[in-house]
Parts: sequence; structure tokens; C-alpha cells
Amino acid sequence: MKNHKIIVANWKMNPSIFQGIELLKSINQSINEMKVSSKIVICPPSLIIRDALIIFSNSIVSIGSQDCHHAEIGPYTGDLSYKMFEDIGCEYAIIGHSERRANHFEDNKLIFEKLNSINRSKIIPILCVGESFVERKSGLASEAVIRQIDESGINKLEFDQKIIAYEPIWAIGSGKIPTRDEIMSIHSKIREKLDTEGNNKDIKVLYGGSVNTENVSDIFSINGVDGALVGGASLKKADFIKIIESAEI
Ligand code: PGA
Repeated sequence: MKNHKIIVANWKMNPSIFQGIELLKSINQSINEMKVSSKIVICPPSLIIRDALIIFSNSIVSIGSQDCHHAEIGPYTGDLSYKMFEDIGCEYAIIGHSERRANHFEDNKLIFEKLNSINRSKIIPILCVGESFVERKSGLASEAVIRQIDESGINKLEFDQKIIAYEPIWAIGSGKIPTRDEIMSIHSKIREKLDTEGNNKDIKVLYGGSVNTENVSDIFSINGVDGALVGGASLKKADFIKIIESAEI
């Protein structure tokens, strides 16, 4: 049986509002003309999530947020709650992206709070984990990743569906990716960890970090890789469509 992939687009703070809306429309048109068996999730900037939900209202594409606050409502200037994203129609939320960890000082304790809140909603979490370059060079990559999984509690929280994205920090936006063996080894350690705890049979584990049209087929062919979290390449319509096509082969 074909192993359907999950392809998640993380647009970050890109592109401009108007270009973003045009890009959403153009991706929608292309996907409507294709036969797609993968799950496609687009996580645009929050300000165009509503546009995205309208544009993709008759589509197989789901919309997600790039983060969320763990409180339902409250005095948190500038934040948006998991409940707001759920109410507006988001089905997924990226949690613990390394850019949030670095730029907003998010630690595993806070990430646990976020996952715990999302657990009270219908949102499916996409937890990002990954080692730094120093951890990779010191042979501590898998320890770092397993610690993030453990401390965030994703392994123990009961969700109907949950997703982990293995994203080495040094691979994000750098054009560098780990070798096949390195990706396979981390994915199998994640799977080993999940298999020994909780109800994690259906959890999906994606790879993220410099996924592009050149390397995606190879990445998808690695044992244990259930899909991809795509940043830069998801902002170029032709590239994103090619990545979706690669999962169909
Ligand atoms: P990238 O970003 O594909 O541009 O490396 C991936 C991510 O940060 O999720």
C-alpha cells in the first residue's frame, strides 16, 4: 500500500500580504488540477489565515498556524491563542520551531504548556525538534532530539493525531542537509522512543530543513520519513508543486 506523505509549508513571515494572497490562489489552482494523495498543510502568516481558509475552502489543503499561545484568552499583548486558531478553522499548529525557541526564548517547559492546551482542542500539533551544529559535531544530536521530545511531553500526551518534524537547526535555510544515514538514524531513534511510551503508533515523523526540488525525492525515500516541513521552497509556487508531485511517485 502507498505510504501517503504529509507536506507542511511553513511560510514564516513571508511574503508580503498581497503576494501571499496571490500565492495562495495560485497554489490552490494548481492543486485543484492535480491528483494528490498526500496531506498538504499550509501555515501562512496569521494575518492571511482567514484568506487562506476561504481560498482553500473546497480543497484538500488544510491550514495551520505557525505558533500559538497556550492560554485561551487573556492579557497577552500581541499573542494569538490556540483557541482562536481553532475557532477560525485551523486544523494544525507548528509548535516549538527553532526560530521561536531562539528568537522568543521558548523552552521545552513552555512548549509542554502549548501542547497541553492544544490537547484540549481539535488542532493537530506539529512539534519541531532538532539539534544545533555544535550538538551534531559533538555526537549529541540524538540525545538533544530525544530530550526535546521527552521534556515537551509529546510522547505522553494523548492526541488523536500528532506530528513531529525533525529539523536540524543548522539545516534550516542553509542549503545543507544531513546525510541519508543521519536522517534515518535520528528518525529511527525518535520512533524507538515513541514505541516504548504512550500510544504513539500513528504518530508521523517528518523531516525539515532545506528541503528543495533537488533533494526531496531522496528524502522521501528514506525509511521512516513520513513527509516534509518545507520553508523557503514552499514560497515558490513551481517548487512547492514539484515537491508535492515528488510524493506521488
Ligand atoms: P527551510 O525551512 O526549508 O527554508 O530550511 C524549514 C523550516 O524552518 O521549517
